[in-house]
Amino acid sequence: MQLELELNGKRRTFDAAKSDVLLDVLRRNGYTGPKRGCDTGACGMCTVQIDGEPAMSCVTPVARADGSSVETIEGLGSQDDLHPIQAAFVDNSALQCGFCIPGMIMRSKALLEENPDPSEAEVREALSDNLCRCTGYKKIVEAVLDAADRMDGDAALAADGGTVALDREYPTRRGEGESR
Ligand code: FES
Repeated sequence: MQLELELNGKRRTFDAAKSDVLLDVLRRNGYTGPKRGCDTGACGMCTVQIDGEPAMSCVTPVARADGSSVETIEGLGSQDDLHPIQAAFVDNSALQCGFCIPGMIMRSKALLEENPDPSEAEVREALSDNLCRCTGYKKIVEAVLDAADRMDGDAALAADGGTVALDREYPTRRGEGESR
């Protein structure tokens, strides 16, 4: 099948097998920011945004993603011009091995678009589906709170003007939606 996406703001068409999940297609085509962790929607390493919502791409069948707007970590800042969330993670030393960070940042971005001024408890709740084996989460939570200060509502404004209303449900954790 042909998988049509608006990927990081550009219309793209990819060859895909019906049995593929979104993560398969992304990684095969060079979008290796979303990591392959558990392949069961349990760890959050593969988190992307689909139509503005956080979704685990390892349990999103391509048929479900077809026609949607997908954002991966590659759609954020560049090495010379980091997105404020990326900069906050760096400045707060919120990473060790880094394997979980693309998913953490995409999950954080979705949170800040919905809730530009979250409490610590709300950050912890939002990140509860994303596992980190290294950091103990404290610095990650501090980074997200710092990013909220840096963005000062900009994420919510961008989301209001830039995302498509969600009329489908995407799996966000193990057991929700279809698995492959
Ligand atoms: Fe290593 Fe999170 S920094 S898994």
